[in-house]
Formats: sequence, C-alpha cells, structure tokens
Amino acid sequence: MTEQAIDSGERPAILARAQQKVLGAPLPRVEGPLKVTGAATYAFEQAPAGTAYAAVVGAPAGAGRVTAIDDAAALALPGVVAVIHDDPRIPAGEGNSRAMPAQGTDRIFHHGQPVAVVVAETQAAAREGASLVRVHADPAPGRFDMETQPVRRDHKLGFLPAIEIGDVDAAIAAAPVVFDEHYATPVHFPAALEPHASTVWFDGEVLTVRSSNQVIGGARETIAKAMGLPAERVRVLAPYVGGGFGGKTGVGPEVILAAIAAERLGRPVKVALPRRDTAYLVHHRSATVQQVRIGCDHDGVITAFEHTGTAAQNDDGGFLEPIPFGSLPLYGGANRRFRTDLVRLDLPATGAVRAPGEAIGTFAVECAMDELAERLGIDPIELRRRNEPDRDPTNGKPFSTRRLTDCYDEGARRFGWPDRVPAPGSVRDGEWLVGIGMAAALRGNFTVEASASVRLGADGRATVACDMTDIGTGTYTILAQTVAEVLGLDPAQVDVRLGDTDLPRSAGSGGSFGAGSAASAAVLACEDIVVELARRMNASPDELVLADGRASADGRDATLVELLRGEAIEAMGKSSPGAQAKKTSQASHGAHFAEVAVNAVTGEVRVRRMLGVFDVGRVLNRATAANQIVGGMVWGVSYALGEAAVVDTRSGRFVNPDFGEYHVAVNADVPQIECHFIEEIDDAANQAGAKGVGELGISGAGAAVVNAIYNATGIRVRDVPVTLDTLL
Ligand code: MOS
Repeated sequence: MTEQAIDSGERPAILARAQQKVLGAPLPRVEGPLKVTGAATYAFEQAPAGTAYAAVVGAPAGAGRVTAIDDAAALALPGVVAVIHDDPRIPAGEGNSRAMPAQGTDRIFHHGQPVAVVVAETQAAAREGASLVRVHADPAPGRFDMETQPVRRDHKLGFLPAIEIGDVDAAIAAAPVVFDEHYATPVHFPAALEPHASTVWFDGEVLTVRSSNQVIGGARETIAKAMGLPAERVRVLAPYVGGGFGGKTGVGPEVILAAIAAERLGRPVKVALPRRDTAYLVHHRSATVQQVRIGCDHDGVITAFEHTGTAAQNDDGGFLEPIPFGSLPLYGGANRRFRTDLVRLDLPATGAVRAPGEAIGTFAVECAMDELAERLGIDPIELRRRNEPDRDPTNGKPFSTRRLTDCYDEGARRFGWPDRVPAPGSVRDGEWLVGIGMAAALRGNFTVEASASVRLGADGRATVACDMTDIGTGTYTILAQTVAEVLGLDPAQVDVRLGDTDLPRSAGSGGSFGAGSAASAAVLACEDIVVELARRMNASPDELVLADGRASADGRDATLVELLRGEAIEAMGKSSPGAQAKKTSQASHGAHFAEVAVNAVTGEVRVRRMLGVFDVGRVLNRATAANQIVGGMVWGVSYALGEAAVVDTRSGRFVNPDFGEYHVAVNADVPQIECHFIEEIDDAANQAGAKGVGELGISGAGAAVVNAIYNATGIRVRDVPVTLDTLL
C-alpha cells in the first residue's frame, strides 16, 4: 500500500484525462434501494442483546446550581434499572474535538442542561422515569434576553476576527450616498428528520457507538476524551444518517450519558432524543442583530462597506456565529469593516447550523443591496455588477474560480428578470400582489484533510473506503462515480464503505467540505492504481486509457482482470489543502430569483416559483448536488416566512421547541424550484476540482424571497420571519 499527498492545485492528469462518462452524471443514489426497502438501518434500529434504553433528565432552571437529585420515585417505577447522576463525566452540553463542555458540574448553564440519565428496560419506562426524577436547584437570575444584555466587542470567541481595512467612517462621511440599516434574525433549530440517536455497547474493551453523526473521526476523539478512554478504545459507526444541518457535527450529551450507562450496567444502551429535547441538548443558530452600512457614489460604486452584528453564546460554549463571513469577498469597496460582537446568554449553546455566517449574514447584506439599488434607481443586478471585485477585496487574493456574474446573467435570462416591474406594488393578480426579487449566494470553500483507500480487486471490482458520512447528501454515490470515472469502471462495479472510524479518516460531513475533500482523496488513491496498471502494461500512465473494465495503451489492450493476475491492488490517497488553496480566495457562488404573491386582504405570502444558478466548481453528480441546493432554497423560504424559535425571556425556555409550533416549510409551502449549474472545474480548490455545495443553497435564498415581497408590496421587512401582520 502506498501513500502520497499531492498539493491541491496539482490537478492529477488522471482525472482530467478520464473519459468523463460517469462523474457529474445524475446517477440515482447507489444506496437508495437499501433505504427505501428498510435494509439500511439507522442508529436507533440496532438491537444488541440485552439493550436498555436511556432518557436524559434536564435542569429545571435556566441558571444557578443543582443542589440535590431525588431519584426515589424514578427507581420505584417498574422497568427502571438505574438513575445515574453521580458520574463526574456527565457533560453539561455538546462537545466537539476542539471544545469540551464542562463535565460533572453542578452549575446550570441553561434550562434543560443534562444532569442525570435514567436507564430502563423500555423507552417508555426510561422517559417516564426521567419525568419522575426530582431535580432541586438553587436558581439564579438568568440572562435570557439578547436585547437587554451588554454587547461585548472585546472577545476571543469564534474563528473570524474583526476586520478593519482603510477608514470606513471617513469614507462614509465623504460618500455622496450613505446606506445604514439594521436587520434581525431569530434562533433557528437544525431540525433533522432522523432524531439524534445512538446505540452504545462495549465490544470487549472497545466502546462502540452507532450514532447519527456527521463527523465521526472528531466524534471518536470527543467521546474518548469525555469518557477518559484512549481513542483506540472507541469506535464510531454511522453508515446512514438522516440529516444533520450542523446539529450532528459534535457529540451530543446523550451519547456520553448512554456510554456512561453502558459502562456501569455492562449492557448495550440506546437513546433517542424526543423532538422537544433537541431544542435543549443540541446547539441552535444564534439570533442575530445586524447592521449594514454602505457608502457609495451616485452610480452605486461602493467606497465603504461595513457588515457587523451581534450573536449569542452561553458561558460554556466556544462558538460564535461568524455573521459577516460571506460578505468578506462579495462586493468591492476600499474601506471595509466586519465584526461579530458577543452577548452572553444563559441559553443552550449556539453552534454551526447550515452555512454558519452566510445563511443569515446574506439575508442582511442581500436585502441591503436591494434597498440601495432602489434608492439609487439602479437595477439590483446592475448594482451588484458594478461592485463585482476582480480579486478578493478583503484579503487581496485572486479568486480561484468565480462565475457570480454569469450566475446573475443566466438566472436573469431563465427567470425572466427583464420583465420585472421595478416600482413596488404594481402587479396585481386578483387580490394578490405579485413581485419578484433576487439575491446573490456565496459560501466560502474549504478543503480539509481527508484519506481514502481504494482497492481494485482481482475480479475487477473496486472498493473505496473512508470514514465519511452520507447524511442524505450523496456521498456513497459520488465516491462510486469518482472511482468509476478514474478506473474506467461502471459505478455498479464500485463498492463504497463509509461511516466507520476503523476506515481511513476523512473529512466528515460539515462546512460543505465533505464531497470535495473525500472525492479528492479517492482520486489520489486511484492515481496510484493507474500508475501500477500502466507499469504492468509497460506504458506510461499518461498514455493509458481505462474504459469498460479494460486498459489500453499504444495499440495494446488487456482486461483489468488480466492485469491484476489474481491479486488486488490497493492504494491510499490523502488530500490536504495545499499551496494553491492558500494562495487563492475560494467560494461557491450563485444567484437566487423568487416570485411571490402577497394576499392584499390577509397578508398571506405564497412563494410561486424560485430559480437559482450556481457556480460550485466541478459538479460531481448533478442530481445529488441539485438536491442539496434545492434543500437549501427550501430552508430560505422556511426562514423567510416561518422559522423562529421563541425564547421565554423570563425562564430561558423555548416557547416552541417542536414541529407543532416551530414552523418549517412543508410541501404546500414550497413552489417549483429550479437549480442550474455553471460548471467550471476549480483546479485550485482540490484534486476533484469541486467546491462546496451543501450550504450554498440557503445562502441568499431568504433575501430573494424578502426582496420579492418588497417588490410585490412596497413594504420592507428587515427582520425575519415575515409575518402577516407586518404586511397589512
Ligand atoms: Mo455544517 S453547519 O458545518 O454541518
């Protein structure tokens, strides 16, 4: 087995020369039949012999200390096996490999913080038992209201430091046109369809965790750290995951509680969070207040661009929503300011929820650009075009690939943008006011370290293996396509093994980096195999052609099976962000268009159609890529019109921690959505030439809807969701 790392940017000739028959094609999900027949089992569907069920007991106050836990009534319930509240490893919240929550503490950081776990013979007994545990607390006054708590500018939280370039205040003072508005977004839940669930057991010495998790390599480290075990004694399995949206990037406290219980009882334990518990035990996206200040001339050319905001975190959390992250490379302007301020609240932790930063940052900035265009009397697309930078205006680096203006053009043409009536409130259809709006989409591109092994078996079938997850995104399918493309196979001849920390460590599903990073590792592994096949053909790798299970070079031809001579060839590929990745500014881009109808009598908003055009580098699979983009656009509709978790500012509890009252868009809310790609292979991004997809679709999507509402009604709404009362 060989291992090699090739700098990103040295595009392997191997993929460039491949037949391009398979990669990019809208191949149906290779694991689809297993999913629709129920053969693909999920974390809670495991039933090792003797499995017990766990339920989490939460703190009954939003701040203060736990003083006593009375478990007598719970222990008296038939079926209850144990109530554990004395283990010093009980975590106060969710952990990830970079930051662990407090463990074994009596301090209450937020309402519902885990303080005990009830283990029982049935799930019903565990949950009823949890309701019978009496937790006594010495409550303290909590900080639950973002509007009344002090804003801290001087803090070290988050990965995005404050940025100041030039003199924004002077440039704004000197600008002929000044724009200055505030925007607000509420708490959003990452509401995955598959519950947060795990089945945990000891396999000899090895703590085995079958979990619904996005990034199992990191989860393994976190679980080991939390449990006080060496990492070799933890194995995490997640072959199928029913959505994550960021909420499954870390390790939920219920996983550690189940592990503690499995260790103490010597039996497998499984746990699934009821929907209401996910509000307290899973992180959420912080509410934000944002300010956009722009100075420009009468032609709309920007001289000063400022995007700042405030986000919340509790005293135990280490994350901060990078509000202006997507704005950094978006528009020109020599004077620039970007900052996220911090408010400490005693609420559950805030964390990465699909497109952290961009999902809500682009709402403010893309609505601001729409408003500014109207004030200037310039078409919104034209205003954006006039401020399209030719290199990253914040870090000065050249763009790797950037087809944003092409997205505008293609989207405008396909959507019928030239027919838009700029004067708001001008188009009526019976009692409905009709309008259209657009917004840019941008999501920073990351490539992270990833390994994958590829084995070309003696029978000519290939297996690619790594610890990536497929959270509904299409990882199984794109890895089969990648290997098939390079080795000249049918994708049906490629087996894909994922979701097991015993396999080579990959990127995991997060930050939109999974597909590009994992596919790059697979390409590099395949490259070694191609070199070996070429050697056996006495040919140079450059002249070798692999197609239909055969190799040919210079007039000679052999089947792969012949070349393999009864033995498999195996190789390991390791991809990492290389020199070119650091020299360029990388992002995926897009343009959203939306048409809405607003009922003039009731204020009801219906989104009639949406269309987006996206630049994501190489498209690995047009169906699964579009599927992710459309899902993001649905979330844009959802947060523009419905989603908002309401905090009871007296208690620190959520008023609506379930799908009954936290309104996510359902089929009836979602119009026909079209997704198109402008494909340009991004050689600097990674060996696969693919930029991130998963989080691009939500970026800007809400702004397009809200801008369309303005065009329909003449009413500017600067805080989402847009409710009926604001339009009447
Ligand atoms: Mo994403 S919010 O990094 O799953």
